[in-house]
Amino acid sequence: MNNLRPVGVIGTGKYVPEKILTNSDLEKMVDTNDEWIVSRTGIKERHIAAPDQATSDLAYEAALKALESAGMTGSDLDLIIVATITPDSAFPSTACILQDKLGAKGAAAFDLSAACSGFVYGLATATSFIQSGMYNNALVIGADCLSRITDYTDRNTCVLFGDGAGAVIVGEVPEGRGFKAFDLGAEGAGGSLLQIEGGGSRLPASAETVENKKHYIYMNGREVFKFAVRVMGTATIEVLRKAGMDRSDVDLFVPHQANVRIIQSAMQRLELPEEKVVVNVHKYANTSAASIPLALVEAAEEGRMKAGDTVLMVGFGGGLTWGASVLVW
Ligand code: ACO
Repeated sequence: MNNLRPVGVIGTGKYVPEKILTNSDLEKMVDTNDEWIVSRTGIKERHIAAPDQATSDLAYEAALKALESAGMTGSDLDLIIVATITPDSAFPSTACILQDKLGAKGAAAFDLSAACSGFVYGLATATSFIQSGMYNNALVIGADCLSRITDYTDRNTCVLFGDGAGAVIVGEVPEGRGFKAFDLGAEGAGGSLLQIEGGGSRLPASAETVENKKHYIYMNGREVFKFAVRVMGTATIEVLRKAGMDRSDVDLFVPHQANVRIIQSAMQRLELPEEKVVVNVHKYANTSAASIPLALVEAAEEGRMKAGDTVLMVGFGGGLTWGASVLVW
């Protein structure tokens, strides 16, 4: 990527809904307890969208802040990508809804489905478009309302998920800065380990699919855990290799926030000290595509990176998919 136009992050914003669901709230809903949830996952609470909020509403709030921080308005955008597995509806895309609300007249807009890896996939897509000269300023958002696809009678999954949105503006940056490498991948053979079976063309919504809870997330937690630990390590090493860097070059590691044990195992494998790792899973739980941008934007707001720092983002999720990037801030 070295001879191409330098492209990086020029604005950031995030949003989480007001309502907080704590572990003790969940203790009243299913047979679980705070000690189990914290020791197995690191999660203490999660934010839940209000009944009248959909994914585009969360995305809109994050987008406004990102535009403001870039000193832009919607009319400056020529591309909008929303990474989500919980679009407002099958179509129009959540990105098109946002395009209208933001006044980004004429901008290209589409959703991207790569589950928790979606934001990094979105960054890679926007970067390629801008490097090619096709577009100049892209809004890339990871946004999900996982509460809408979570079965709150299933203790195996309902403790794990939350709602939120994180947004960045991707555009040209000074020479030497910006994205240095991406590593995207998938293992489609593992798709059934983490899925929603109902509501698509294979198993359209019916009274029976509702009865059988086919519109909720199904997850084989143990197998996904093993996949996650493996690819967090391999994708990180691969993206550093592509960037011509070493793990000692990493100033800030921004992993997907699914489970603190998965993050800790990556930290150990990569020998990264705690102060170089962003962890906020205790506050937001797993917000799927929103997880990495929420962590990135929060780290930026807390002043954890300065110009020229090397930021490594890595995520994994349904598909199965993974995505990693090296960004010089
Ligand atoms: N409270 C109390 N007990 C529970 C709960 C709960 N909330 N959930 C499960 N248990 C029980 C299980 O029933 C099981 O009991 P059993 O042994 O009697 O059958 C026991 O706890 C242990 O279950 P395990 O599955 O072995 O627990 P584990 O330590 O593997 O942790 C977890 C489970 C947290 C789900 C873990 O496997 C995990 O994090 N997996 C990865 C999930 C992930 O990262 N998903 C990301 C993608 S999500 C997306 O793309 C939308």
